[in-house]
Amino acid sequence: MRLRVAGAVLLSAAAYYVYLPLPSGVSEPWKLMLLDALFRSFMQASDMAHALGVCHRVHLLNQLVSWVEVIDAHSCSVVEVSDSPLGGVPTRVFQPKGGEKPKRGVIYFHGGGWALGSGRMRSYDLLCRTMAEKLDAVIMSVDYRLAPEAVFPEQYHDALAASRAFLSVEVLERYNMDPQRLCVSGDSAGGNLAAAVAQELALDDSLKVKFKAQALIYPVLQALDFYTPSYQQNQAVPILYRPVMARFWLQYLGADSALEPLLLANNHSSLDQPGISSSTRSKLNWTALLPPERKKHFQPVVKETGSAGVVGEVPGLMDVRAAPLLAEQVVLSRTPKAYVMTCEFDVLRDDGLMYARRLQDAGVTVTSDHYEDGFHGCMVFAFLPMMSSVGQRSMHNYIHWLDQNL
Ligand SMILES: *[C@@H]1O[C@H](CO)[C@@H](O)[C@H](O)[C@H]1NC(C)=O
Ligand SMILES: *[C@@H]1O[C@H](CO)[C@@H](O)[C@H](O)[C@H]1NC(C)=O
Repeated sequence: MRLRVAGAVLLSAAAYYVYLPLPSGVSEPWKLMLLDALFRSFMQASDMAHALGVCHRVHLLNQLVSWVEVIDAHSCSVVEVSDSPLGGVPTRVFQPKGGEKPKRGVIYFHGGGWALGSGRMRSYDLLCRTMAEKLDAVIMSVDYRLAPEAVFPEQYHDALAASRAFLSVEVLERYNMDPQRLCVSGDSAGGNLAAAVAQELALDDSLKVKFKAQALIYPVLQALDFYTPSYQQNQAVPILYRPVMARFWLQYLGADSALEPLLLANNHSSLDQPGISSSTRSKLNWTALLPPERKKHFQPVVKETGSAGVVGEVPGLMDVRAAPLLAEQVVLSRTPKAYVMTCEFDVLRDDGLMYARRLQDAGVTVTSDHYEDGFHGCMVFAFLPMMSSVGQRSMHNYIHWLDQNL
């Protein structure tokens, strides 16, 4: 009897911990709740270790994640897998076996808020392996340096160096890749790096080989407005909570984490910030850039007066290499054709939708692929044990787009 009561108490405590009210319409809510409980327990353990001075929260988090997730490079019957640097940056390479014809190529940047994750994690390894197999393409998954040791622009520089090497004659020849059929891609913070690299390389007239396509999976693209409708709507939706994204940004930009409440108040983009011109504001003006079905009933939050000098203190906020949405239209117009995936239940939804719209306005061919039941991170959790139906659907469509467009 006592055992049963204890069991019931434990079970309800666990259910209480796991249970989270989710918006109706999200794909398979229980799976997302479990995923979130796992993430939250990792986060809380890391916060505790951080508070006790044991180690930086990001280090413990990364250790936990690597312990659970990182796997060695192992080849299978159809794909050869090896770890080999690309432009001096550690990279996992997936090469389909057989065939003489030059193959298509994708360089991929993993997500994780510029601080977490690795291309050697099981989920990314599986994603890239699947891409290599289904597309008969060479996939290179780049392990750029991470925060807090590396801060902007170091992640960006790693991504750029790896991309330049990817497009070089030596690498194209070594891996037998077709110079006409190359794509830059990534998810979340990796989508940010992919978009930034696509812009930079599009402008470089000295390059003989260029990317044919850019594929951005729920990318993060701006840090000036934390009140887009998607930030408002999804602030408490796992796994990417609104304050977590602000913290990732501050960490990436090498800024003081104490600025978090200020960012969350949009005090850094108040109208009295002299560094932010109206032309900059128009580039992320969601009242003009989003369709009515995404704006819904949400209102913009623009402060008259904020916290003076923040933009000067954190110049990365205005740096287009960190925030690709701030690019000029002429720059966007030179970037390759684009695939932009967005999820309804994601604070970053409107970053992606605004970018897709601005690319389109600049004359770029854009496929905007929106998932009404999607949540942040779903594509990478397309594999067991966290497999969700929207994860599988989105991965299938992403690979299909690459097949048709690369
Ligand atoms: C944003 O767009 C709306 C609607 O087109 C317009 O009225 C407003 O002036 C714009 N604001 C900025 C800062 O560009
Ligand atoms: C935002 O700015 C206003 C006006 O300067 C100030 O009163 C408020 O305390 C600031 N909020 C934060 C969180 O910094």
